[in-house]
Amino acid sequence: MKEVTERFIANPDFTKEEFKELLKCAEDPEDAAYLAKEAARIRKERYGDKVYTRGLIEFTNYCKNNCYYCGIRRGNLHASRYRLTKEEILDCCADGYELGFRTFVLQGGEDAWFTDERMTDIIRTIRESYQDCAITLSIGEKSYESYRKYKEAGADRYLLRHETANEEHYRKLHPSNMSLSVRKQCLYDLKKLGYQVGAGFMVGSPGQNADCLAEDLVFLKELQPHMVGIGPFVPHHDTAFAKEEAGSVDMTLFLLSVIRILLPKVLLPATTALGTLDPKGREKGLAVGANVVMPNLSPVKNRKQYDLYDNKICTGEEAAECRGCLARRVESVGYHLVDERGDAVL
Ligand code: 5AD
Ligand code: FES
Repeated sequence: MKEVTERFIANPDFTKEEFKELLKCAEDPEDAAYLAKEAARIRKERYGDKVYTRGLIEFTNYCKNNCYYCGIRRGNLHASRYRLTKEEILDCCADGYELGFRTFVLQGGEDAWFTDERMTDIIRTIRESYQDCAITLSIGEKSYESYRKYKEAGADRYLLRHETANEEHYRKLHPSNMSLSVRKQCLYDLKKLGYQVGAGFMVGSPGQNADCLAEDLVFLKELQPHMVGIGPFVPHHDTAFAKEEAGSVDMTLFLLSVIRILLPKVLLPATTALGTLDPKGREKGLAVGANVVMPNLSPVKNRKQYDLYDNKICTGEEAAECRGCLARRVESVGYHLVDERGDAVL
């Protein structure tokens, strides 16, 4: 066992240099197992054997951005575009509620068709119909004023992965009209408005090195988000990164443990990308500190179109099938899926 592992567990308030040293332990199975065990202990202490579930509604794959890694980037002319109507979105919520979901995540590309007026109308309707549910948005970078309107309409949470906290790396992943500073500002705006905020990044995205990951951890420590979404990078055939290697499952698992120890009460999903690269990926994620799963509630007819990366799982299954499948998977590692809003514990 390396001394740095013990030191991190005793006091996770690490500097960038210390995180870099800690990241080297990912290669040592003994260190990784030790951290995973501690992460599972903390997770149990805070959340018992509960796993929270979020119903993901991917309501538009139109996007004005051109992130180099993403299959629904504007420049991908092969993407077949769709938008759900308000009625379709509400049908997803109704199905989801019936299945026990108490959080709805409205996720989409940055689609100008969904003006603030249309978004607030949808949010308000969901809010009125499902008062015991949390509404999470994941629709990218907006102005403070837009975020304020969504909040006022009834949104509770917002997911916006920072993608990488390293400036230079950010520029490798995004065209020059996007910037890390704007991204971070959005996250701080959301926090200020009282949202429960989720940040996060891809593991193993092209150009990522130990410096980037250490900076991601420092940034998370500084931001103190309620949620952190991390999953391995998975190449998409119609992007500039088609030929790049996928991220590592083991590194993702290692980072899940580290984040659980760093932010003990954080909501940490075992992501679809993790399940895509490894058939047992989500179970492994839960075993090392994750406490959330996000099955898909989108209409099956559109599932394949929300094509962020290749071989995405769960694109053929009905919502009920995914829920049942996940319930079994969660049980297989000794946890239970619960029908609760699933706010972060205090
Ligand atoms: N591989 C893995 N994750 C991806 N995302 C987008 N493209 C990919 C990819 N190729 C993630 C981004 C985004 C989230 C919705 O999906 O981190 O924030
Ligand atoms: Fe969708 Fe298993 S979670 S099929």
